[in-house]
Amino acid sequence: SWTVQSFIETTVAAIRARVGQGKVICALSGGVDSSVTAALVHRAVGKQLTCIHVDTGLMRSGESDAVIRFFSSQSELTLVDIDASDFFLSRLRGVTSPEEKRRQIGHGFIEIFEREANKLGEVHFLAQGTLYPDVIESVTFRGKAPIKSHHNVGGLPERMRLELVEPLRDLFKDEVRLLGLELGLPKEAILRQPFPGPGLGIRIMGEITAERLAVLRLADAIVLEEIKNTGWYDKVWQSFAVLLPIRTVGVMGDSRTYEHVIALRAVDSKDAMTADWSRLPYEVLARISNRIINEVRGVNRVVYDISSKPPATIEWE
Ligand code: XMP
Repeated sequence: SWTVQSFIETTVAAIRARVGQGKVICALSGGVDSSVTAALVHRAVGKQLTCIHVDTGLMRSGESDAVIRFFSSQSELTLVDIDASDFFLSRLRGVTSPEEKRRQIGHGFIEIFEREANKLGEVHFLAQGTLYPDVIESVTFRGKAPIKSHHNVGGLPERMRLELVEPLRDLFKDEVRLLGLELGLPKEAILRQPFPGPGLGIRIMGEITAERLAVLRLADAIVLEEIKNTGWYDKVWQSFAVLLPIRTVGVMGDSRTYEHVIALRAVDSKDAMTADWSRLPYEVLARISNRIINEVRGVNRVVYDISSKPPATIEWE
């Protein structure tokens, strides 16, 4: 039967056998999947692993800090930390289509990652936190396009002639979390809600600008703070804000306003393959809405998304 301990032992041995004396690189986003992958590979091959963190500027406020801090404090782990926020903003200028955003973010990521990786000399392996649901959803089904093209370091392995090391390929998220805890990763990082690779980029409908990012990041921080304070963070699968590409009329004092709309999304799920909207109490919704409208300049309306997956998806793009 599957136990966390036996999985770790078998996987570490398998990685060691496969990698030999080779060098491994790993993109460390700060998320659960890449953190657990890095920890497993590090346990297997130690100094032969170098992790690269690329800050796309599309992260939530404070999102990856804890994990980056944790990995930097592991003295034998090599971590390269790159700030690429201006690069990504310029790549995304004028881009509004969801798949084009994913493409730009994915390709931009590969470009930066490849540049850093090339500085390391000869690398043989790329470790990646691909999960079972990623494998399924990215596979072409009966000639139909994938549902969403998932963001990973796709394309890079062939170009750099790298072999993939994907120790989480057969696992679901809840199993990966158990692994992470067993590997001694920080609890708050491991029990963190999932966050997509393209980040806030696919939660801003329409064009991604520094100004719109700032609006969403602030609204999103309020959502998370309230969801945590009211004890709902661990009860829902994901909870976040989405910035809509429309303005609506409101009133403040004696004047008419014409401002942004924030959509609130909270879902229950076991593995992200299906999901239902969370029945958050009205009082929690009210608090979040009031705080966003009062504290985020440029927002005068908040709506709650009550769609299930399928036919909707968890993310809006
Ligand atoms: P959807 O929106 O397809 O999302 O119902 C299912 C789960 O996957 C996450 N997601 C992504 N994760 N890169 C990722 O790493 C992506 O491009 C991506 N798109 C969606 C989403 O947050 C949810 O947990």
